[in-house]
Amino acid sequence: MRRLADKSALITGSARGIGRTFAEAYVREGATVAIADVNIERAEAAARDIGPAAWAVRMDVTDQTSIAAAIAAVETRTGGLDILVNNAALFDLAPIVEITRASYDRLFAVNVAGTLFTLQAAARAMIARGRGGKIINMASQAGRRGEALVAVYCATKAAVISLTQSAGLDLIGHRINVNAIAPGVVEGEHWDGVDALFARYEHRPIGEKKRLVGEAVPYGRMGTAEDLVGMAIFLASGESDYVVAQTYNVDGGNWMS
Ligand SMILES: NC(=O)c1ccc[n+]([C@@H]2O[C@H](COP(=O)([O-])OP(=O)(O)OC[C@H]3O[C@@H](n4cnc5c(N)ncnc54)[C@H](O)[C@@H]3O)[C@@H](O)[C@H]2O)c1
Repeated sequence: MRRLADKSALITGSARGIGRTFAEAYVREGATVAIADVNIERAEAAARDIGPAAWAVRMDVTDQTSIAAAIAAVETRTGGLDILVNNAALFDLAPIVEITRASYDRLFAVNVAGTLFTLQAAARAMIARGRGGKIINMASQAGRRGEALVAVYCATKAAVISLTQSAGLDLIGHRINVNAIAPGVVEGEHWDGVDALFARYEHRPIGEKKRLVGEAVPYGRMGTAEDLVGMAIFLASGESDYVVAQTYNVDGGNWMS
């Protein structure tokens, strides 16, 4: 029995990386998945690769008109949204004395406002249909503890954990479960970019930071997007109906809480 049979999902930022892997997994479990991304060419390519149960929609999570249009497109195409994964996010790195207002605004617009207002639009649609739903926010171990050089991103992910708690408590009366996943360090294009930033600020050769963070994981290596899939399916399925407002660490043992 496929665990997401006949469900309709929208995953923000799923043209690549973790979101794309979740889209593939949800399709394997029987869902129809909207690949929602600002990068529409890449979203379309991902949808083509994944197959007919995946489809691409342009969506900018910083723009409420774009959010509303994407949710409306899901409703029209599939008859209603059952699962939202708030996955789109940006990263940046700088010492406190060099953080710019532009970087702060960009990260908070995507990672925090994008999460809140996409969640809000999805919740409105789910409440109107009266069938409940599942909302999964992508937090991070960076939201559990501050890190030198990573102040703004860490603050955005702490905000995602807090929003997950408030929205989870607010929406469970409508049988909408809001929970979050806090990954540790995950291989992929995102971490290639993070590694390049650390190389610049910590004067390291390219690849060294990745090697060091991987060695520091108790499990013994960096994570992969596939390592997160079990939790992403669980939180989207009926098996998690009694799980409310939680953030789960899936990080190879990096963090305990
Ligand atoms: N990779 C990691 O090590 C790691 C660790 C902890 C948490 N996370 C979190 O997991 C999630 C996915 O990470 P990833 O590594 O796959 O990231 P990624 O950078 O590979 O992918 C992010 C996607 O979001 C899209 N995007 C950016 N701005 C957008 C916007 N305004 N509207 C819509 N889409 C937008 C990008 O086009 C891209 O496809 C993020 O929330 C990230 O913070 C990642």
